[in-house]
Amino acid sequence: MLEPVLELLNIRDDGLYVDCTLGGGGHSAAILTKLGPQGRLVAIDRDQDAQQAGRERLAQVANHSNWQTVHGNFSDLTGIFADLAITGADGILADFGVSSWQLDQADRGFGYGQDGPLDMRMDHSNGPTAADVVNSRSQEELVRILRDYGEERYAGRIASAIVAYRNRQPFRSTAELRDVVIRAMPAAARQEAQHPARRTFQAIRIEVNQELAAIEQLLANAPDLLNHGGRLCIITFHSLEDRLVKEAFRKLENPCTCPREFPVCICGRKPMGRVVTRRAVVASAAEQKENPRSRSAKLRCFERLIEGG
Ligand SMILES: C[S@@+](CC[C@H](N)C(=O)[O-])C[C@H]1O[C@@H](n2cnc3c(N)ncnc32)[C@H](O)[C@@H]1O
Repeated sequence: MLEPVLELLNIRDDGLYVDCTLGGGGHSAAILTKLGPQGRLVAIDRDQDAQQAGRERLAQVANHSNWQTVHGNFSDLTGIFADLAITGADGILADFGVSSWQLDQADRGFGYGQDGPLDMRMDHSNGPTAADVVNSRSQEELVRILRDYGEERYAGRIASAIVAYRNRQPFRSTAELRDVVIRAMPAAARQEAQHPARRTFQAIRIEVNQELAAIEQLLANAPDLLNHGGRLCIITFHSLEDRLVKEAFRKLENPCTCPREFPVCICGRKPMGRVVTRRAVVASAAEQKENPRSRSAKLRCFERLIEGG
């Protein structure tokens, strides 16, 4: 999704761009190569390790004069702009979820493919871990998390197996959770193409990191932080995220709440801009082949068309 992102961001060499999800720095590095000395890039990540890895990548692209990284949560984008005395951006990018790098680090506990501590916190300096969630939440709460955040058909069976296991001993590792989930699934479901624990791990990770709340906050704040003509580009990885983005963009383009039968608008809500991507952009066949994770990626873009204020 690198090429379409760069195209949709419509990068000016003297513009100010904010990457809300630095990760391994792939998008940020590409943006940086398009900026001149008057341009500026601010790259944010809530994961201290990702921030460090991203910094190292960016340092290979350009000296430190026109970019900086920030350790922070994009839910606080308004506060980050205020701290940096930024009044408006020409482009804001967010590429949700976890990075392949985070998934591959066994000690971060995101993946079911290898054993590690059941952590899953992107910002590992605070907040409850995945182990805290599975060891302490009620069975009903676990069902809700698995159903709402994982769209898991077998949420009831899995939650009940989690509670039965933790009544004997608390969960400590990713392998324990993965094995309990696999055993709780009906035999036929274990044969499906996707790993049987994929949806449970996604759901617990979303809960641990309060991901949807952060996305809602970003969608509420980012449009106000764009300059006139500035663009907000967002890449999502599952339908829960994509639904939030699509609906927020629709409302920005058409905020009118008047009943359809009204001949003229009386609510007075004015569009803030336009949705640039009528349909979500998906990864090319070649990219999907090279990087299977990109198969579920969807890119949407909104352009602000009123002056800031
Ligand atoms: C899919 S990766 C981004 C990959 C990046 N675009 C690249 O080119 O390498 C997502 C990154 O966003 C970070 N992240 C997720 N939610 C965040 C949030 N609410 N605030 C800041 N960073 C977040 C994760 O820690 C992770 O490093």
